Amino acid sequence: MELITYNALETIQVGYNLTKVLQAGDVILLTGDLSGGKTTITKGIGKGLGVKRIINSPTFNIVKSYEGDNITLNHFDLYRLSGLNNDFDLEEYFTDDSICVIEWPNNINELLPKEYILINLEDLGNDRRKISISLVGKRYEGRDLKCIQ
Ligand SMILES: Nc1ncnc2c1ncn2[C@@H]1O[C@H](COP(=O)(O)OP(=O)(O)OP(=O)(O)O)[C@@H](O)[C@H]1O
Ligand SMILES: [Mg+2]
Repeated sequence: MELITYNALETIQVGYNLTKVLQAGDVILLTGDLSGGKTTITKGIGKGLGVKRIINSPTFNIVKSYEGDNITLNHFDLYRLSGLNNDFDLEEYFTDDSICVIEWPNNINELLPKEYILINLEDLGNDRRKISISLVGKRYEGRDLKCIQ
């Protein structure tokens, strides 16, 4: 599905609405333009999961974990990571009782799970963003994205 937002708050709302169909163990890949709104939509996901802390870009951390209501949100920014030549153990974060949101996932293609929710954010100018959401894999079959529009 695709939709257009006209400001950052609307993109936060998309992330918030998405949490209505999320389940523990889900993995969300965020792709698209630089400053497309990946961290912004993650703020909404955090809000929906009950995270009280402010979610900021984890660029210098690779991953930051936030406690929500009975669930942990692991927020990755892999912009600076290239290939597998590092001893960062990503897979240990993919647990059944957490939700993982990954910015710049293409830098670790080999390590990604085979099933995921893919969200691409395209900058259309003038604060407009085209947000495209696709569900990849059996795990996500039947998730109804109606709540996002
Ligand atoms: N419709 C919109 N949706 C999301 N962000 C918007 C929108 N319009 C303007 N913005 C602004 O664009 C910026 C998006 O920044 P954000 O850090 O979320 O992007 P990002 O994709 O995570 O960037 P990076 O590629 O550096 O990780 C913010 O300053 C936000 O206020
Ligand atoms: Mg970001």
